[in-house]
Amino acid sequence: MAEEKRFHGVEVNNNDTWPGNVVEGTGYLYRLNEKGELVLNDRDTIEMCHRMGEIDDKEYESELAYLKEHEDHPDYQTIQIKRGGKKLVAFFSASGITRKLAKRMADLIDADLHEIEPEVPYTKADLNWQDRNSRSSVEMQDKTIRPAVANEVENIDQYDTIFLGFPIWWYVAPTIICTFLEQYDLRGMTIVPFATSGSSQMGQTNKEIGPSARGANLLEGKRFPVNVPDEELKAWMEQF
Ligand SMILES: Cc1cc2nc3c(=O)[nH]c(=O)nc-3n(C[C@H](O)[C@H](O)[C@H](O)COP(=O)(O)O)c2cc1C
Repeated sequence: MAEEKRFHGVEVNNNDTWPGNVVEGTGYLYRLNEKGELVLNDRDTIEMCHRMGEIDDKEYESELAYLKEHEDHPDYQTIQIKRGGKKLVAFFSASGITRKLAKRMADLIDADLHEIEPEVPYTKADLNWQDRNSRSSVEMQDKTIRPAVANEVENIDQYDTIFLGFPIWWYVAPTIICTFLEQYDLRGMTIVPFATSGSSQMGQTNKEIGPSARGANLLEGKRFPVNVPDEELKAWMEQF
């Protein structure tokens, strides 16, 4: 009989590939343990998914390498399941527009607020997109650049959802968003991007930031105009 479960917004089906499976595009491998609990990305799950052909040799090696790096964490095997249920609004804003929106969002759902602060703040000249050699132009031309972040979210495991805000730069998220994501073990975290922009939508943002959000459930985000009404903003946030 088909049994359905939801975990951090990911639909998990008890289908014929059960008990090992891959949730497309999320980095989750999952299985049900003997107690019927959902277990993500532990060694048995990785072995099982590999045996069943759900992941190839390359993915298998990379999953094991990641596990090896993190398994001395006492909570590793249940870290995803034990996440606290709080919501965080984290944002980067170069000229204040996204900051205003993020503050409103945090107030509307009573979430914590965290500003991602660049180690070197962006000057007006840095933000000049008409100058091919400005800092932002250089950073957005080479997507391996990781602008340093000066601060950190305290005790990130108290959150199960991060609303992640930024201005759209050259049709996608600024690369400092990748720096931010790569600071943490985000397995089991739901990440909901939001943005402000002149007019562009989210574009290929998730494709670009996805690899930096390893193991997280990265959802389709939304670009908002600055004058979006509170009710609309709140309703959008409350679906997560
Ligand atoms: C380097 C740079 C690139 C930008 N690229 C885009 C773009 O591709 N599309 C767009 O609609 N707006 C673009 N913008 C405008 C910003 O997305 C917009 O002004 C945003 O609301 C600024 O947010 P902030 O004040 O939080 O930094 C760009 C701005 C900068 C500085």
